[in-house]
Amino acid sequence: MELMKKFWEKAKADVKKIVLPEGEEERNIIASAIVKKEGLAELILLGNAEKIKSKAKELNVDIEGIQIIDPAFSQKFSTYTKEFYELRKNKGITMEKSEKMVKDPMYFGTMMVKLGDADGLVSGAIHTTGDLLRPGLQVIKTAPGITTVSSFFVMLVPDCEYGSNGMFLFSDCAVNPNPTAEQLASIAISTAETAKNLFDMDPKVAMLSFSTKGSAEHEFVDKVRRATEIAKELRPDLQIDGELQLDAALVKKVAAQKAPESSVAGLANVLIFPDLQSGNIGYKLVQRLAKAEAIGPICQGFAKPINDLSRGCSAEDIVNVVAITAVQAQNIIK
Ligand code: ACO
Repeated sequence: MELMKKFWEKAKADVKKIVLPEGEEERNIIASAIVKKEGLAELILLGNAEKIKSKAKELNVDIEGIQIIDPAFSQKFSTYTKEFYELRKNKGITMEKSEKMVKDPMYFGTMMVKLGDADGLVSGAIHTTGDLLRPGLQVIKTAPGITTVSSFFVMLVPDCEYGSNGMFLFSDCAVNPNPTAEQLASIAISTAETAKNLFDMDPKVAMLSFSTKGSAEHEFVDKVRRATEIAKELRPDLQIDGELQLDAALVKKVAAQKAPESSVAGLANVLIFPDLQSGNIGYKLVQRLAKAEAIGPICQGFAKPINDLSRGCSAEDIVNVVAITAVQAQNIIK
């Protein structure tokens, strides 16, 4: 796919260190061999070195030279434990609990990213979305100017005249079940930044609702309207508008009728959904009924990149998410 090729090229141009906490898992091992061969990232696998090497042998893949760390036996274990304790002691974490938690590769890997021993993390072939997000939210926290971690999908819709020639970013379809107006504003700003920095898009951000510019009154609509105001106040440089119905956001003719003053309506290429139910259903509808390619969910808003995989992912999917994470790491604002 053209888009992934671009990410591969970018990742190769400035190689970043990416940690894979599920290092003993088969698809991670196969993916590691591909990442190494293609030079997409410098990988660190977490797990038992003997187990990983013997699995690689069984699978007949070359992971020679890839660093393997067993959390419990790492020289950094006590540093990470102390640091995790410092970060979470006001939440009731004891040193004993910290040691137990940091032995978990998800927490160990997250501490590596936090302390700069890795530039990013990719996991989720075995773990759930929550297993990945929780350590990230507790340890890595949000990027400067962003209050809410969220996620986006790149949607590539075939034969589509809308958006950027059928390309869209959809958010949030995977993290925040019911964002407040403030959180929704933060999600919109993050996604606009992602569109610019990661995809060289000129973002036109539609805050979606079942109402366009006051055509309906409801507390759900109030939330989207308030989120739009907040986002515009915080970032007057961005093109964000709402509340807009989906047709007004995409279709110029409808936009001319329903929102003639809007510079986003009819041209939107970034769609912000009011909650997780609409976002998750929305991307799956477009994926299944319009046969769109859906790349994601990719996390955004973290101070450093960590990304989730679907438990049904292939080794190739892992390779692609590693490449995207590496490119996100190149774009981190220090
Ligand atoms: N952004 C920033 N910080 C956050 C966010 C956020 N979006 N959400 C929670 N936090 C912070 C909290 O403030 C808290 O911080 P603190 O402990 O330092 O005070 C910490 O993160 C933990 O928050 P909790 O609310 O206790 O975390 P919770 O256990 O509820 O988990 C999670 C948060 C994992 C994001 C949860 O909201 C979740 O499970 N979301 C849905 C994930 C999901 O199932 N998605 C659908 C599947 S994916 C797909 O289909 C493509």
